[in-house]
Amino acid sequence: MKIFESKKELNIYLDDIRYKNMKIGFVPTMGCIHKGHLSLIKKTISENDIAVCSIFVNPVQFNNTDDFKKYPRTLDEDIAKLESANCDILFAPSEKEIYPEPPVEQYNLAGLDNVMEGKYRPGHFNGVVTVIKRLFDIIGQCNAYFGEKDYQQLVIINHIVKQLSLPVNIHSVETCREDDGLAMSSRNILLTIEERKAAPLLYQSLLYVKKNIRNKPPEKLKEDVKTKINSNPLFKLDYIEIAHKDNLLPANDKIINPDLYRVFIAAYLGNVRLIDNISLSD
Ligand code: PAF
Repeated sequence: MKIFESKKELNIYLDDIRYKNMKIGFVPTMGCIHKGHLSLIKKTISENDIAVCSIFVNPVQFNNTDDFKKYPRTLDEDIAKLESANCDILFAPSEKEIYPEPPVEQYNLAGLDNVMEGKYRPGHFNGVVTVIKRLFDIIGQCNAYFGEKDYQQLVIINHIVKQLSLPVNIHSVETCREDDGLAMSSRNILLTIEERKAAPLLYQSLLYVKKNIRNKPPEKLKEDVKTKINSNPLFKLDYIEIAHKDNLLPANDKIINPDLYRVFIAAYLGNVRLIDNISLSD
């Protein structure tokens, strides 16, 4: 695996690859590589000639400095995992390389950032789009792969790619889960043994909503989940929401076509904030 720290060198190298008519696949990450990332890499390798992964813990998408400091950084292990997955290129830039000056971009995200994560993490999505736009400019024309675990992020990135006519095709990949249903996430390693045992309650709550979506109104289902989660002292629920899969608007009335909706959850388990979502289609 070739490792680049310089955006200029990577950009020139990839231009040469494109000149040879080879397809470039790109997986942006913040590192602490797990099986979920590796499934994105695997898909990238199968659909492209060259697989590029980036590792950059992006300071401007953290609305909480403590969360940024605590975010796991495991570069040596990540390199070993990417190498054994046959990833071709790793881009691991420094903060100065991506942000020579403090970034000032402000994106219009068409209100997609006013709900769920956007409500609880002000500025988060502007920070995500700021780094993604810079990474896409460095990588150039490519297929880019994102996991559905961060579904709101996926919708927002799709929006910005269309709005700015970026030469990038976005591909979504299903969430990878542990055997007990917990969505794979870099933050899972921060859970204590007791918290890790309790964590599948989030996925179980999503399944409960999916199972009952035709019999109970959204408000009742959300109330049921709130009661259940709040009865466990390890959790602090941020939100449970049922929202349209494209415009992310919350469903208030009884849902006629569950195929168009997803259910989303975010909660603190101890000090670790976890998110998850699933489609309501059968
Ligand atoms: O999903 C992530 O890991 C990050 O939000 C991303 C897309 C790499 C941007 O920093």
